[in-house]
Formats: sequence, C-alpha cells, structure tokens
Amino acid sequence: MCGIFGCVCKKENVAPLIRKGLKRLEYRGYDSVGEATIKDGKLFIKKDAGKIDEVHKKCNLDDLPGRIGVGHTRWATHGAPSSINAHPQFDCSSPPRFAVVHNGIIDNFAELKKELEEKGHVFKSKTDTEVIAHLIEEHFVQKPQADARKTVAKTGISKLEEAVSKSLSQLDGSYALAAISTYEPDKIVCARNESPLVLGISENGQFFASDIPAFLPLTKNAIFMRNGELAVLKDDSFTIKNISDQRIILREPKLLDWTPEMAEKKGYTHFMLKEIHEQPEALRNTLRLQDKYLDLLTTFLDRAHEVIMVACGTSYHACLAASYMFSKVSYLATHPVIASEFSEQHSRSANIDSTILAVSQSGETADTLAAVETARQRAATILGLTNVVGSTLTRVSRVYIVQQSGPEIGVAATKTFTSQLSVLSQLAIQLAKKRGKISTEEIDLLEDKIQLIPEMVEQIIESQESKVSSLAKKLRDEKCFFFLGRGISVATALEARLKLMELAYVPSIAFPAGESKHGPISLIQEGFPVFFICPPGETRKTLIGNISEMKAREANIITVCEEGDEEIIQLSDDYIEVPRGLPEVLSPITYVVPLQIFAYRMATEKGYSPDMPRNLAKSVTVR
Ligand code: AGP
Repeated sequence: MCGIFGCVCKKENVAPLIRKGLKRLEYRGYDSVGEATIKDGKLFIKKDAGKIDEVHKKCNLDDLPGRIGVGHTRWATHGAPSSINAHPQFDCSSPPRFAVVHNGIIDNFAELKKELEEKGHVFKSKTDTEVIAHLIEEHFVQKPQADARKTVAKTGISKLEEAVSKSLSQLDGSYALAAISTYEPDKIVCARNESPLVLGISENGQFFASDIPAFLPLTKNAIFMRNGELAVLKDDSFTIKNISDQRIILREPKLLDWTPEMAEKKGYTHFMLKEIHEQPEALRNTLRLQDKYLDLLTTFLDRAHEVIMVACGTSYHACLAASYMFSKVSYLATHPVIASEFSEQHSRSANIDSTILAVSQSGETADTLAAVETARQRAATILGLTNVVGSTLTRVSRVYIVQQSGPEIGVAATKTFTSQLSVLSQLAIQLAKKRGKISTEEIDLLEDKIQLIPEMVEQIIESQESKVSSLAKKLRDEKCFFFLGRGISVATALEARLKLMELAYVPSIAFPAGESKHGPISLIQEGFPVFFICPPGETRKTLIGNISEMKAREANIITVCEEGDEEIIQLSDDYIEVPRGLPEVLSPITYVVPLQIFAYRMATEKGYSPDMPRNLAKSVTVR
C-alpha cells in the first residue's frame, strides 16, 4: 500500500502542497518518497529512500518549480527502498519526458518489461511501476504527431491520454496511478483499478490522491473514482471516462464533513478497526504473489531435512496454524517454535540440514532475529516471510516473501496476521503440488476456496460486526475467558486470547479443547465465558463433546461456527456465524475475524485505546 498525491493548479509552486499532502498519507507507506514537477517543458525530480521529513530535510522537496506535479510515499512491494526504486518512475528518454506514480501491484510487469526491453527500453529500477512509464512512452512516440492532431480534433482525446489508455489496457493487476508529461504539461492523467483513487476539486486547481487526507485542508469537494475509470485533470477542469470505451462519466463532487484526523482513519475511530476492515483488500494482495517467489520458497521447504518456524506473538500463531497446513496438505512436518525459546531448544540441534522459516510482519523483532542469527551460525538455511521490504529479516534471509499487507499502524496485528495465513496456506498448496501427496481434485478445491476468502471476510464484517459488538457489551465485565479449539483452531484460539489480553487487558486462557479435563476445567463455574472455535471438519465431532463438558458445568458457551450449523447453535448461549464451505485447514483466516472485532470492542467498551495498548510497541526490537 503506498500513497500517491498530485495536482495541477492555477498558481505556481505545487511542490510544497504535494509534500504536505504526502505527509498526510504517510500512514500508507513511509520507506521512500519522491516528487516530480514540470516547468517550462522540463521535468524536475527529487526522490530518495527514507521518510518524508528525512528526505525533505536532505533535499528540500519544496523547491521544485512549476504548477503541476505528482508525488508518492512508498511501501515497497517490488524492489527494496532506494532512490532508484522510489517513485515517480520515468521513461528512458534523456531528459525524461514522462513521470508516473502508482499504488498497487502489476501482476504481468515481468512480461511487459521483457517486451519493452526487446524494443530498446532501458530500465533502471526493480519496481513493477517503471513498466507503466515506458509503456506510456512507447505508445506516445509510436503515434505520429499529425495523427495525434486529428484524434484531438475528432475526439478531444489528447496523445498523452490515449497513450495512458492504451498502456492501461495491457496492465493486469491493481493500480491507482497518475502520469504527467512535458509533451502536454497542462494535464494529469490518472486512473484506477482496485487501488483507491479520489479527486479533489477546487477553484484553484484539481487534485488526485490515494485517500482524502492528502487534499482535505485544500478542498472538501471530493469525487471517488471507480474501478476502470480514468480522469484528465487541468487547472480549471476535470473529465472522467470509462477506460474501456472512453465514455464520459458525469459525477458531481461530494462535500466532505470529515476532520483531517478522521480522514486519515477513513472515518474509522481507530486504525485497528480500519485495518480489520482492510483485510479483504490485503488478502486480495496476497493472492497476487508472483508464483516464482512461492515456487522458490517451497523448493527449499521440499528439500529441507527439517523445517523449524520461528516467530513471536501473533506471527507465532500464524506459524502454529501453518504447521497444520503443511502437515495436512503437503505432508511436511514442521516445528513452530516461539523465537525467544529457539536457542534453548535448538541451538545445538540446528545444523546445515535445518531450514528455518522466520515469520515477522515488521521484520525487526529482536527475538526472531536472534533466533535467525543462532541458526545462521549453525549453517542453517534461512527463509523469511515479512511485510516490510528492506527490513532486517529480508537481509538475513536466503529467500523471502513479502506479504504485501501495507503498513499496519495499530499495535495489534490484524490484517498482517490473516495475510500471513494466506501466504502460508499458498505455500502449503504449492508444496502439495510439488509432492503430489494429495489429489489434484483436493488441490483444485483448496485453490478455488482460497480465492473466495477475501469475499468471505467482507461478508463476516458486514453481517457479524454489530452482533459481535453487542456481545462485547454484554460480556464487558467478565474477568476471565477461555478460548478453545481443536486441530488448527488451537492457533485461532491462541490468537483470539492474545488479542483480548493485549487490547482489553482481560486475563484469558487458550488451549486445545481436549485438554480441559486434564486440569483447566476446574476453573469453570456457572456463567464462565468459554469461546469455542468450531469449523466443520475432522475436529467438529469431538469438539461437540468438549462443548457439552463445559455446558454440563453451566459455562457460558459462545461459539464461532459455520452459518446455519444448527447442532452447534443449539449448544450455544451466543454464536457468531462465518460463511459456509471453507475447508478446516483454511478456517483460521475467516474464524479469527469476529474474534479480532470482539477484542477491539471489549477494549473500546472499557474505554481503552486499541491503537496504543499499554506497555506494548508495534515492533519489539529489544530482547
Ligand atoms: C500482535 O498483536 C502483537 N502486537 C505482537 O504479538 C506481535 O505479533 C509480535 O511482537 C511479533 O511481531 P512481528 O510479526 O513484527 O515479528
């Protein structure tokens, strides 16, 4: 997830406006930043790795001249944070004539890059975005000027707009992008497919942005672009069209009544709630991972003598869930280990035949990095799964995958957790294909079902959020909770417990439901709240027995179950339903969502701040 912002104004010097707008989008990405403006037929460019204030201090972004410009604050997905990989990205003419900023993921950039290189284009960066700048250049210069004049006379479509439209028709993937050119310095051409793009309309000029906060202090008149739409912005006008048929779309600006602070959270009261709601988008991004990365990582897993997964907190719960996925789907035994315990458990046994899969959304967790270092010293192979390109984990891993969740501002991990689960399940499926241990029908079923998960999560949020909020209100004064599950749902139970503890400060206990009678059931008294995670599948029958055990002791039974599962619902005092049809091995991704909402609502019911829970940091960089 990145932030794009730019404008074309009647007055000079848009650069400071762009920098301040990017600053208000910094929550969308902050590993590198850049701006490009046009004046007197020339492109002026400044960009570098680092946060906005750091780069501005270093090279003064404000002294770029001109009254038209584009800017970008980056959350790297392809290519580490660096000056070369920062946006804007450019064509290969010298000096450059086209500048592009982009938020999203171009799935087919490798093929397009190869075709363009064969035509003589020279690439500088490792980004997928640079392909767009060269595509626009290619289409622009291919069109003779005389023909261009005829097109403008006949259709009003400028050469730049036409070049952008043709380029868009070749892109697969998600984008919110904007292009400017010294050939037509009076306009910005921007377009949207899946990644958010909003226009700001004013008397003094027109704005485009990934999100409202960028231009809210400048205008409250906004137009939300929709998928498959393109807009041409000039200092005194804007036109919106359908990319596919060039049909002009008339859409009135909406007057916004948000404060800038509200806008940064898109109207949500907390980043955590916004990030819970962003999970469908983040999950769609994980489903765009390049096969070659999945294949490379699974090749190492396939050849491993032993696979140890190391992580902390929520990321450890993702590893625990993954251990069931790898076992059941790929027939691969893996050992999830809490990173701070790794040295005690494996510093002698880890060896050159060991493969370590380190999972860390920040890529900077000291305990996880220490475990990795111990393993490296034992000549083990290090694989990484993280959300941050350029993080330490990416530098110490032999191979890594970036989960592309976008920045997560809330201290509690939510979208990064479900994204980790999605990537890990894709690895398990990819490995199953390599190993041929399960039938192609089973593999096809898993691949079909994983594609449905973003939509399922959307349904859960839409249909269950208010019910879960009422449940939190009802249980807000409870002093302790059990979270129980069997099989892979133990990981879901542990994660639900952690969320409730770290956000609402309520002591909670999670363990395999089969363990109740070996001790913990002694805590049960009438009305004691016990959550059961009950997906369909092999564990459901025995779990019903565990529910009955608790019910017999008059516990308050709260279940998360499949929609319409009457047998479970009959046993429940309260129940939360999730969409039907997801195999148990993928169930943590959807079943955890209502439990994230429950923990969030318990915190707000108690008047705590979910975004900044006491004693916690987003990234624990100390041991
Ligand atoms: C999760 O809600 C917590 N904030 C914490 O347990 C976190 O998951 C843990 O510190 C690991 O962080 P990482 O994924 O960045 O390594």
